Amino acid sequence: MAPRPLIAGNWKMNMDLAGSEALAKDLLGAVGAAAKFEMTVCPPAPYLAAVLGVLEGSMISVGGQDCHQNASGAHTGDVSAAMLADLGCAYVIVGHSERRADHAESDAVVLAKAEAARANDLIPIVCVGETEAERDAGRTLDVVGTQIRGSVPEGLTGETLVVAYEPVWAIGTGRTPTTDDVAAVHAHIRSVLAEKTGDAANVRLLYGGSVKPANATELMAVNNVNGALVGGASLKAGDFLAIARST
Ligand code: PGA
Repeated sequence: MAPRPLIAGNWKMNMDLAGSEALAKDLLGAVGAAAKFEMTVCPPAPYLAAVLGVLEGSMISVGGQDCHQNASGAHTGDVSAAMLADLGCAYVIVGHSERRADHAESDAVVLAKAEAARANDLIPIVCVGETEAERDAGRTLDVVGTQIRGSVPEGLTGETLVVAYEPVWAIGTGRTPTTDDVAAVHAHIRSVLAEKTGDAANVRLLYGGSVKPANATELMAVNNVNGALVGGASLKAGDFLAIARST
């Protein structure tokens, strides 16, 4: 049986305090019991506590957008996995391509972040994906395989790990890979994950990159796609819920 889909909203560096609370309330009011999918939202760090306050006890969980790999110390501006767990977060995104590019995060750093997440009982959403140049050079499967081998901890399970495939060129661009391409990459990710865990079949593999209500049904129906990591469309409750309901 395919794992229950996860719809994760990555709010990135958007919203303000009032808008974050309002979006969380709108989602809460409209989501219903929704046993078919699981939903999580990842607000900016300063708004985590407010959003957690709105969503406490509901079926919508909350995640961080990043965590530092170290437990504590002199890392100005960073947030530890323990701090996210302390607030009540369930998930944390690690290795998003914007972090890999803007903060020069290597696979080794992403691995250390995922391990820090697990050490604090958070579920890491480990992101991988090729650039347009890598895709044009026919290197997509190689690049994504290398990222999985380098950034995913050993021995996690469907309960403790989520992986998101996000082609860099599809993020925020309105462009998406064909469903055949998504199927090929997700199948490859699952086979490489089998080197890391005996439970690869149960690890949720999310697709991310310009997921919208208009393309969600077709993307969510692809083999080995177990949900979505949604950026822009997660900022509108109606769009995000429409995507969730298309799983
Ligand atoms: P997008 O972003 O949905 O706006 O393309 C996805 C992401 O970066 O997680």
